[in-house]
Amino acid sequence: MSTIQTQASYGIIGGTGVYQPDLLEQPKQHSIATPYGDVSLHIGRLQGKTVAFMPRHGKGHAVPPHKVNYRANIWALRSIGVQQILATAAVGSLHAGLQPGSLVLVDQFIDFTKQRPVTFFEGEQGVVHIDMTDPYCGRLRGEVSKAADCLGIVLQASGTYVCTEGPRFETPAEIRMFAGFGGDVVGMTSVPEVVLAKEQEMCYATVAMVTNYCAGISKEALTHREVMEVMQANVANVRELFYQVIED
Ligand code: HPA
Repeated sequence: MSTIQTQASYGIIGGTGVYQPDLLEQPKQHSIATPYGDVSLHIGRLQGKTVAFMPRHGKGHAVPPHKVNYRANIWALRSIGVQQILATAAVGSLHAGLQPGSLVLVDQFIDFTKQRPVTFFEGEQGVVHIDMTDPYCGRLRGEVSKAADCLGIVLQASGTYVCTEGPRFETPAEIRMFAGFGGDVVGMTSVPEVVLAKEQEMCYATVAMVTNYCAGISKEALTHREVMEVMQANVANVRELFYQVIED
């Protein structure tokens, strides 16, 4: 590990199933000190650009969603100059028509988290309220959509992400409520990550990878193993998508 010298233009936050820095050329591990704790990430080259890669759940998926140090992660990326973040997230589907294996470029969220630090603005600089009309960056989403078209990758261009606290999966009653509220997919990590990126004025987009039907939509009990297996089958597509976005 080394102390940071480099500046990176893009950051990739890999969610469940996306852990390997090997999507970068010559990745080097760095430890970045932040006011919220140290963060380990890799910096390397991708399509001629300097890119930082961070597995959201740490090495080998050690950190559960409610314990991810979201503030440290976003602060670390900002501190090395990252202005654009491409994130992946495993999600369950709230609709029978949105099948496992689908990719959704989410554009809205509904927040059902309960006990996470959710802001950088704790009152020291006065009270700050950030606008959330467009939580996910429209420009970057446009680039991801264009890249998907170009590569022939099927991607739903919008969708509402319901964020739960986890780490448990949801009850069928919760899932019925989320669907009634207008949600499309359910996951445990996009909030507060997207909010913190917005507070730092970074351009942030998430490609949600549907790994399963949510509880009660599928007749089977949901397992983490199922989530991982579907994710593995999809990782190559997302990788290609990010290469194309970063190249353009
Ligand atoms: N619920 C919450 N988070 C998830 C799911 C789910 O069904 N699948 C993958 N992440």
